[in-house]
Amino acid sequence: MYVKNIWVSAQKGRIMLRVGMLTSGGDCQALNAAMRGVAKSLFSQCKNVEIYGFIDGYRGLIKGEYKLMKNDDFSGILNKGGTILGSSRMPFKYMGVPLEDGSDKVERMIKTYKKINLDCLVVLGGNGSHKTANLLMNNGLNVLTLPKTIDNDLAETEISFGFQSAVDIATNAIDCIHTTAASHSRVFIIELMGHKTGWLTLHAGIAGGADIILIPEIPYSIDSIAKAIARRTESGKRFTIIAAAEGAISDEEARLTKKELKQRRKIENYPSAAYRIGAQIEEKTGQEVRVTVPGHVQRGGAPVAYDRVLATRLGVKAAQLILNKEYGYMVGIKNNKIDKIPLSDVAGKTKMVDVDDELVQQARQLGICLGN
Ligand code: F6P
Repeated sequence: MYVKNIWVSAQKGRIMLRVGMLTSGGDCQALNAAMRGVAKSLFSQCKNVEIYGFIDGYRGLIKGEYKLMKNDDFSGILNKGGTILGSSRMPFKYMGVPLEDGSDKVERMIKTYKKINLDCLVVLGGNGSHKTANLLMNNGLNVLTLPKTIDNDLAETEISFGFQSAVDIATNAIDCIHTTAASHSRVFIIELMGHKTGWLTLHAGIAGGADIILIPEIPYSIDSIAKAIARRTESGKRFTIIAAAEGAISDEEARLTKKELKQRRKIENYPSAAYRIGAQIEEKTGQEVRVTVPGHVQRGGAPVAYDRVLATRLGVKAAQLILNKEYGYMVGIKNNKIDKIPLSDVAGKTKMVDVDDELVQQARQLGICLGN
């Protein structure tokens, strides 16, 4: 028997457990699997439970747009990409900016929460969404979060769902480039997502057998890249494959202030990092360069089995915390085990690739050029 009151009372039919749920920020694979994990677990353990899904993330909470969801709503979605609730970007930095009608966003969210008489709000989100979740918690709401992002940059969890699915897609993109690269004497750059971190590029780069991997955490020198390409040419290789993170930055650019960098980017006017790096390589080496940007394809399609299991495990654990009335946590993975991490330890922090990480060292030992 559960010791906590909610479960016991709900079983006896005395109280109603009301749980709100929203998916916030850029979507990713396994969001539906995670929501299903929370919902199915609650429905199967608790007699009187109501789940309210907010439309398009925090926007739905602000505007009071939600739907009461049935157990059936969570059937058949385990393998579905995207989110059945919809999502939107509601940047944390604009939370203090009033709405058009002058009302305060946080106050509006609290109002909606109280109007439905929620016991808890479950937020599935990445870095920005965690800052807002923490803010809501500090304003007295019961909040739990689940780590979603293909970037894998959330602090205090070893992995977030969506990441492994994106790694698979990015790896497949590099695999495809390999066959065409082998037919031509060219340099191919595949630009991968990851925002300001290099997790996705590092993992896909290794899985796809990239010759050069460029991540934001290790600013690159164009000379080192040119040397690595020359070494391959001298050893008889006809092509070079570069996996470059969208946030990749040169050592020279890394020395600029934020403002200076912004100005330079504006003047250069490249569509994205890979085009900039490609132009630098062409200028330095005279080699023909081709750029591939898989973009949002990396966030699309069905979640891989790993993510389905991970998201389900995290969702079921969140349900358990709700039944135990334990709030104010992100459910994550630590030392390969499910753990609850205080939201205040997660919010506002970004997990970067450690430049001395074993994987980085092993990539170097393999002969992969990390750009420096
Ligand atoms: O955070 C996930 C992510 O896909 C990043 O990798 C990428 O930089 C960003 O979102 C793209 O955002 P949007 O979908 O808003 O263009």
